[in-house]
Amino acid sequence: MTPTATPTPIEHARRDRDAALARLQDFVRIPSVSTDPAHAADVARAAEWLADRLRAAGAQAVRVDPTARHPIVYGEWLGAPGAPTVLVYGHYDVQPPDPVELWATPPFEPTLKDGALYARGASDDKGQALTHVEALAAYTAADRTPPVNLKYVFEGEEEIGSPNLEAWVRAHAADLAADVAVISDTAMVAPGQPSIVYALRGLSYLEVEVTGPPRDLHSGQFGGAVRNPINALCAMIAQLHDADGRVTIPGFYDPVRPLDDAERASLAAAPFDAGAFRRAAGAAGSWGEAGYSAVERMGARPTLDANGIWGGFTGPGAKTVLPSKAFAKLSMRLVPDQDSDTVAAQCAAHLRSLAPEGIQVEVRNLHGGQPAMIDRAHPALRAAARAYEAAFGRAPVFTREGGSIPVVALLGEALGLSSVMLGFGLPDDNLHAPNEKFEVEHFHKGIETVIAFLDALPEALA
Ligand code: BES
Ligand code: ZN
Repeated sequence: MTPTATPTPIEHARRDRDAALARLQDFVRIPSVSTDPAHAADVARAAEWLADRLRAAGAQAVRVDPTARHPIVYGEWLGAPGAPTVLVYGHYDVQPPDPVELWATPPFEPTLKDGALYARGASDDKGQALTHVEALAAYTAADRTPPVNLKYVFEGEEEIGSPNLEAWVRAHAADLAADVAVISDTAMVAPGQPSIVYALRGLSYLEVEVTGPPRDLHSGQFGGAVRNPINALCAMIAQLHDADGRVTIPGFYDPVRPLDDAERASLAAAPFDAGAFRRAAGAAGSWGEAGYSAVERMGARPTLDANGIWGGFTGPGAKTVLPSKAFAKLSMRLVPDQDSDTVAAQCAAHLRSLAPEGIQVEVRNLHGGQPAMIDRAHPALRAAARAYEAAFGRAPVFTREGGSIPVVALLGEALGLSSVMLGFGLPDDNLHAPNEKFEVEHFHKGIETVIAFLDALPEALA
């Protein structure tokens, strides 16, 4: 090798590790909390930051498209005519950092500790999304070009249910034409053990409002003779599961695709550390639907959870009151072939049927997303497997993920695209929780994986 030999993109990425990490630190400093109107300007700033990085990485036609709420960042690199086209999706918005007092270090002051970068969004999804931009930058810096065409879509509303993405995707369907999509927004099963996620759960998210008396009552004067809406709501929620942990909503399981023996065996073969699971959950043991393993319960079975419940008097001290109203937020994680809107309607009808006399029920559908499943034999997954193996030295396992990435179903339905879930997170990354982190090694190896994936795609798709 002569001293002047130009590095390959992967060699360049290795030399550029410190600078790439510094860029990720800049990115996570921006508190792009999509749900909080007070952070709207920060979300916009994160979009501009990302657009600038895309331009610097060599993307063309980069733009920040406004929507009714938070913008969508688009960019492309179309310098490989005749070669396949890859649509890259990621999100630059983050969950709120609450409860802030439980963070060891401030959520928007990235901190390196024990080989991980701690910050809100480090893993979900800024660190993972940025691997794709850094990969393009590595080609450009190494004076090479990717062997495929690239279209980048980064949204700022993923964590609030992507209310404006579908219309944008449909309006730009022709421009978004591609051969395959790639998304890095999932977890590997264990450090250093890559996994290809081939199924994601969907979501149906409801808010329930129950009303008893039209105004609060003295609980001594009226208690015991008037139905209490908080008591009633708790009884209704308690009836949503049976003793076997199954959801009791009529019709709920009808469209659920059963697990066959081959898939059960393949899920059981992926490493699952029950101890690490309990530590990550901080739970004494696992709970769930009878007849299924924890892995199956989280990835392949639908669930129902109360996310919040409130009503009546919740201030300090005691107040004897029989409240007029009680509220709950309920979410259901769905699996193929459940439909988010159908399940929402079934749940609302069931809640109304469970309401005792004297209690009115109102159900609002907050947001949802369809479940998704990718064919494990899709040729692009071969490129993903080779890329993971090259970067992590280990062949990936196939897993199903309990979380939701509704764009996967949307890209399938609106654009006919299969999505490769090329994730680099870990189950203990504390997503949506205090002390979110991203393994620094997974960030750098993630960049190398993306480069190796793009390099392997033309042959895999040929
Ligand atoms: N990155 C997650 C999805 C995820 C979670 C993948 C855990 C793998 C493991 C994503 O940002 C997310 O949180 N999605 C929401 C979607 C919802 C708001 C429609 C979710 O799953 O709650
Ligand atoms: Zn995410």
